[in-house]
Amino acid sequence: MDLPAYLTQRTALIDRALDGFLPRATVKPATIHKAMRYSLFAGGKRLRPVLTLAAAEACGGTLPAATPAACAVECIHTYSLIHDDLPCMDDDDLRRGRPTSHKVFGEGVAVLAGDALLTIAFEILAQASATARYPMPALIRELASASGSQWLIGGQVADLEGEGKKHTGTQLQYIHRCKTAALLTASIRLGAMSADATPARLAALTAFGQALGLAFQVIDDILDVTQTTEKLGKTAGKDVAATKATYPAVHGLARSRREAHRLTRAALTALAPFGSRAATLRALADYLLARDY
Ligand code: IPE
Ligand code: IPE
Ligand code: MG
Ligand code: MG
Ligand code: MG
Repeated sequence: MDLPAYLTQRTALIDRALDGFLPRATVKPATIHKAMRYSLFAGGKRLRPVLTLAAAEACGGTLPAATPAACAVECIHTYSLIHDDLPCMDDDDLRRGRPTSHKVFGEGVAVLAGDALLTIAFEILAQASATARYPMPALIRELASASGSQWLIGGQVADLEGEGKKHTGTQLQYIHRCKTAALLTASIRLGAMSADATPARLAALTAFGQALGLAFQVIDDILDVTQTTEKLGKTAGKDVAATKATYPAVHGLARSRREAHRLTRAALTALAPFGSRAATLRALADYLLARDY
């Protein structure tokens, strides 16, 4: 398949839907809506919503049915980046090739723009249609749990507390599973749920998401060391400077690369029950492994 063309088309679809869900930038108070849109439309790769849509299709679902969940996960992700970049967290000046939210709008509005994106994610998800197997409370709980104190936020806490410390492989894996793999897995699961996936298919996609999500953060760590700021659209080399718990720091670059490959293979293995229906998900997993930004 022509993956670049596919990604361009899917990204455009997601951007149009997000634009429709977000209040216009002129709606009062304009500052917050400008700030929400500034970060949301800064050119993110949209990998989580793309995975939501692809998982839905692999389970026989439709794009319209999966679109609210796809937009909701991108709002959560963008909120997590705005807060991740704050001076009290990773203290970054550049994100998605632009000055970070707090650099443009100030810390107060950046915190609130994150809060507002977190909140609107659930307002958007509430516009999804429940299915026979997955009523609305199941969808809400899926997103809330992955974003909450035991997963995404928990991982961010462990990431902060882990700065400057020596880590075992197990502790490092805990941080990465929580801060990144959980939301990525939920993105995929919500797509499957929008298609009323059978429990067996949901379980297979959960295993796919967990392995792919961990690989994703391992690669993010590798790129921080190996790529330039221009390529990444965020400041390179920040993890070493902040003595972050990363795969290259704990295991070295070569072993981190092998681990990313191993995890991607595990993700692909989990797709076996889908046969040719998972061709797009397979192509996306290969693409994420090979990515350079
Ligand atoms: C960056 O995620 C933060 C991580 C969880 C590793 P992405 O690499 O998906 O960032 P965008 O959305 O493309 O900006
Ligand atoms: C971000 O991890 C994880 C979340 C935002 C939940 P990083 O701190 O590694 O992400 P980047 O490298 O700043 O994008
Ligand atoms: Mg961080
Ligand atoms: Mg960061
Ligand atoms: Mg990083």
